[in-house]
Amino acid sequence: MSKSYNIAVIAGDGTGPEVIREGRKVLELAAKKFDFTLNYQDYDLGGERYLRTGETLPDAVLEELKGFDAIYLGAIGHVDVKPGILEKEVLLRIRFELDQYINLRPVKLYPGVECPIKGKGPKEIDYCCVRENSGGLYTGVGGISRKGTKDEVATQNMIYTYDQVQRCLRFAFDYARKFGKKARGIGEHNTLALIGKSNVLTYMYELWNRVFAEVGAEYPDVKREYYHVDATCLYMVACPEMFDVMVTENMFGDIVTDLAAITQGGLGVAAGGNINPAGVSMFEPIGGTAPMWTGKNAINPLAAIGAGAMMIKYLGEEAAGNAIEAAIAATTPSMKSQLANQMGFTTTEVGDLVAGRL
Ligand code: IPM
Ligand code: MG
Repeated sequence: MSKSYNIAVIAGDGTGPEVIREGRKVLELAAKKFDFTLNYQDYDLGGERYLRTGETLPDAVLEELKGFDAIYLGAIGHVDVKPGILEKEVLLRIRFELDQYINLRPVKLYPGVECPIKGKGPKEIDYCCVRENSGGLYTGVGGISRKGTKDEVATQNMIYTYDQVQRCLRFAFDYARKFGKKARGIGEHNTLALIGKSNVLTYMYELWNRVFAEVGAEYPDVKREYYHVDATCLYMVACPEMFDVMVTENMFGDIVTDLAAITQGGLGVAAGGNINPAGVSMFEPIGGTAPMWTGKNAINPLAAIGAGAMMIKYLGEEAAGNAIEAAIAATTPSMKSQLANQMGFTTTEVGDLVAGRL
């Protein structure tokens, strides 16, 4: 009997609806070909709703989201809403409340995509970042006191519990074991690199490094490495081929994955998954709302299509997800650029090209 999955769709703001439309087009075709069903329910969340009603993420909606097999997200953010409101109350709140403690961001340069790093191609840019997604500086612990005086104090605390570190590292080791370079037949080892700043954040990285060794002992087949985050940025540009799977805390992961995205052709291509291995996960293109290109049928839908592929793979439709990724790889060589409005095709046409190659 063919399987059926319930998907909550949050197309969101800006170009979100346009890229999700193309993602759904490709997913629909994949579902037909690989014999499964996707039942969608659309949720009106984001800047428009906030401006209309003052609501960001009503508790009742959050409860409903917990009942789906997965969430497919376009983009959240609005030029008329003060930065921080929608990001914190919609995107981060879903990540935290659904305990999506992993942000999985593959860094893959597709064939024919222009890479800003001279001499590097799909062979060199092929790794994955596991970003811790539930703790650290992003949880809003801190505050301001004596505001408006010269003694004003602002704090924003980086907090991690042993358990948060442990579960994140365990996921990363499992991922490296299953999908590392050796497992994919392209390297001598499956390697997991912990990215930190142990020379300055001594308390934090004493914990991360200790747990890294402790959990790592259970994975003798995964080679362990450690790099400081600043050096990592340098290596990501100078020799990206040295990376296989990297794991890092929330803010470092946020920063290095934007750098990673441009090395894979930009935010138009980079897909990610917010994962709760025992709960409801949410898949999204990493790029934002691109207000400049909204409604122009000019935005690149590949990241959203790629996020859709990740989603169905995660749901267990591995072959269908791989087929979508292969169709993306067959499409990129014919595109002029991965940048909005410079693709040589419209948003709709890129969606059609991928669908046509499925
Ligand atoms: C990302 C974004 C978000 C983050 C913002 C919009 C809150 O930058 O998904 O990388 O920091 O996680
Ligand atoms: Mg970011």
